[in-house]
Amino acid sequence: MEKTEKIWMDGKFVDWDDAKVHVLAHALNYGTGVFEGIRVYETSKGLAVFRLKDHVKRLMGGCKVMCFKLDYTYEEIFDAIKETVRVNRKVDYVKPCVFLCGEAVGLNPIGVPVKFTITSVHLGSYLGKDAQEKGASLITSSWFRPWNLAAPAGAKVNGVYVTSCLAKMEAKHRGADEAVMLNAQGNVAECSGENIFILKRGKLYTSQPSESILEGITRNSIIDIARDLGYDVIETNISRIDLYTADEVFMTGTAAEVTQVTKIDERPIGDGKPGKVGKQLAEKFAEVVRGKDPKYEKWLDRI
Ligand SMILES: Cc1ncc(COP(=O)(O)O)c(C=O)c1O
Repeated sequence: MEKTEKIWMDGKFVDWDDAKVHVLAHALNYGTGVFEGIRVYETSKGLAVFRLKDHVKRLMGGCKVMCFKLDYTYEEIFDAIKETVRVNRKVDYVKPCVFLCGEAVGLNPIGVPVKFTITSVHLGSYLGKDAQEKGASLITSSWFRPWNLAAPAGAKVNGVYVTSCLAKMEAKHRGADEAVMLNAQGNVAECSGENIFILKRGKLYTSQPSESILEGITRNSIIDIARDLGYDVIETNISRIDLYTADEVFMTGTAAEVTQVTKIDERPIGDGKPGKVGKQLAEKFAEVVRGKDPKYEKWLDRI
């Protein structure tokens, strides 16, 4: 990650090194924040933000879940994100974050002041070039995805990500690129920061939202793109055995984009090489986000 010059903080731009909060900030101690991860792409008509409207809506939805009082409208948040990209120029990833910044000891979040920041960086390839080009290796994490009754799994709430961090660390300790988490029912939920798809007998399957997943914006884009290309896409329950015996597996996420999976728990997926359908979808997605297919222009917001 490469840092940038300015961070948007409560309506003003401050220097990167001055974007600070107190050590007793409620969010730092209890995870009371909501964030987004948004990609920015170079297109022939300049920089474009991918599915900004959906990201702003999901951020506002997360604030609703957490009962945060946001002092900004949808339009103001939308414009502030675009302005942050404009000010910092060479960025490919934006991270808005709404969190309880008030200095508080005690869990009660009611009345604790809220802060809103927008950071932009140059992230590059999230899982590394090797994983993106040759396929990623996964482990099944011993940590379960927090289920819908125990945590707001469907919102990007900071505190919920401690499980994703543990799963990611477990993957790294075991020499893998990523971890897939099962849910409380023992079905496949998703990876630490990506949704998961499998291909079986020509059809695509992905875990449905009730499986304690974050309903990814990339996931939803790939469902639409795959259906437009003529594939059946089924949102359902997926078992660990379905994963091992799939013809192809791939992950989707704003940071990871579309990354094929070639190994899970030491078992090769298909013939152990990136699959044809995953490749076709990854290539189409790369075209769409760079404004090369007018059909999906509606998903791009120009800077
Ligand atoms: C837990 C989790 N699942 C899935 C995703 C993929 O979602 P999106 O495609 O909206 O980035 C993310 C990333 O935001 C995530 O953090």
